[in-house]
Amino acid sequence: MRYEVDFLVIGSGIAGLSYALKVAPYGKVCILCKGNADEGSTRYAQGGIAAVLNATSDAGYDSDSFDKHIQDTLVAGDGICDREVVEMTIREAPDRIRELVQYGVNFDRVPSVGNNSPDAGRFDLHREGGHSEFRILHHKDNTGAEIERGLLEAVHRHPNIELKENQFAIDIITQHHLGQRVTKHTPGIECYGVYALDCDTNRIDTYLARVTLLATGGMGNVYSTTTTPVISTGDGVAMVHRARGVLSDLEFMQFHPTSLYNPAEKPAFLITEAMRGAGAVLKDREGNEFMQKYDSRLSLAPRDIVARAIDNEMKISGKDYLYLDARGIGKKQLIEGFPTIYAKCLSIGVDITRDMIPIRPAAHYQCGGIKVDRNGESSIRNLYAAGECACTGLHGGNRLASNSLLEAVVYAHNAAMSAIERIKDDGLKVKREVPDWNAEGMVLNEEMVLITQTKKELQEIMWNYVGIVRSDLRLQRAFDRLNLIFRETEDLYNRSVLTEELSELRNLIACAYLIIKMARARRENVGLHYSIDLVR
Ligand code: FAD
Ligand code: SIN
Repeated sequence: MRYEVDFLVIGSGIAGLSYALKVAPYGKVCILCKGNADEGSTRYAQGGIAAVLNATSDAGYDSDSFDKHIQDTLVAGDGICDREVVEMTIREAPDRIRELVQYGVNFDRVPSVGNNSPDAGRFDLHREGGHSEFRILHHKDNTGAEIERGLLEAVHRHPNIELKENQFAIDIITQHHLGQRVTKHTPGIECYGVYALDCDTNRIDTYLARVTLLATGGMGNVYSTTTTPVISTGDGVAMVHRARGVLSDLEFMQFHPTSLYNPAEKPAFLITEAMRGAGAVLKDREGNEFMQKYDSRLSLAPRDIVARAIDNEMKISGKDYLYLDARGIGKKQLIEGFPTIYAKCLSIGVDITRDMIPIRPAAHYQCGGIKVDRNGESSIRNLYAAGECACTGLHGGNRLASNSLLEAVVYAHNAAMSAIERIKDDGLKVKREVPDWNAEGMVLNEEMVLITQTKKELQEIMWNYVGIVRSDLRLQRAFDRLNLIFRETEDLYNRSVLTEELSELRNLIACAYLIIKMARARRENVGLHYSIDLVR
């Protein structure tokens, strides 16, 4: 089948949905997502979204300022954030938060009934690692689920938006598909839409669009232990790589320090950093605090430092988990403020009001991605990217907690404003001469084990050799192993009918290759990239 729209959106997380709502008054919008509409990292976000809402006041609740949030972001980013992007994003935050509230998203407020505090009725703010102030808006400990609910309901109400589930975008369409040779040096590469596998019918459809947005989320599943859902397989990044677009900063994979240690469970369940913000502390297996050996900010140091400290303690002791002790927070606050975590831990026999929580780090967030400008446009014309798949320059070497949801809404807005201007140009038509996908001569691969086993191998290689602590030798070894996996998988791809599983595996391999390549090229220890062979 062939479809034509003004705005094509790949992804239905916070980035894709908020962009779609903005462009919808200006044309026909189609959102594709590869599973259920609400399945993505957004729905699992716990801690919240960082913003300074009262930057002009100067007391109490209002002791925060844009400058402090900017400074915290720059410090966490380890000196390599794009300062202008940081300033723009943080100053735009209050407007974007107001829009989320208008779409119907609820953030918790300080109770006003029987409360004489000046903060009564205001947003209840949390604090997380690397933040010098309480500035995280949240909805209990399931903020992402509330954002996803609010945005999806608004999207379903909009007559110009069609949302299609179980549609797997395979490749973006460029001049390459018109028979031209395209290399990364080809000037003026353009995007005409995507080819997508309809997972219900196994048909490959052609979606032509005047403007396309990639909002495909992260790539946590490159690693064997990750907090990200199974859909996070770096599809957008891999598609842009194949289309010869520009990617950046992929060596900066962020490992969250505290995922629940429950080895059989995938993805790993997150224990939000907001719990440390409320007073929980990290302890070793003997129940002793250890963060004083690593950073004066203790358990609330930025994530890269805390994850490395835990990794080191685990290696020294030979243990495969440590503890987060939240008992000091108090039973009432734990049960009311962290109901999801309380229930989850109880389900595996850990009562967080009485027991310490077993934790270990897990791959969590990709700071790098598709390189975009201030308007969210990639190096490929008419192709925008927003959310976790994009690299804006905000995070530098390490993302500050709760800046990701913020970046997603700010760049969805910027991309929408630019795309709306772009389609006012009457010369920008859909490219009808694009051919359909050619699947001739392919046979159905009946050996799923080839795919599932290769994926496991890849994830173990990345966890063991390209994880929290790296070395030249480990990176070389990972590269060599990956080469073999790459050749075997390309061979399978060239013979087989395309399936979602095979396509995801190819994408994971491409992302792993890019992470290793960029890690090898980075010759200093900065932010999340840490090698025992480098000095700084
Ligand atoms: P996602 O929400 O991941 O959505 C991706 C979408 O793309 C999905 O709809 C998927 O179906 C679609 N898609 C992907 N590939 C394809 C394809 N090939 N074809 C079609 N569709 C495709 N950040 C914060 O700021 N604060 C937090 O508190 C926070 N907590 C987190 C907790 C957890 C457990 C995790 C995993 C992350 C957390 N993060 C947090 C990070 C943040 O949630 C994500 O970075 C953010 O939600 C990403 O949003 P997104 O719209 O870019 O992508
Ligand atoms: C958390 O709640 O700890 C996750 C926050 C984030 O990833 O920004």
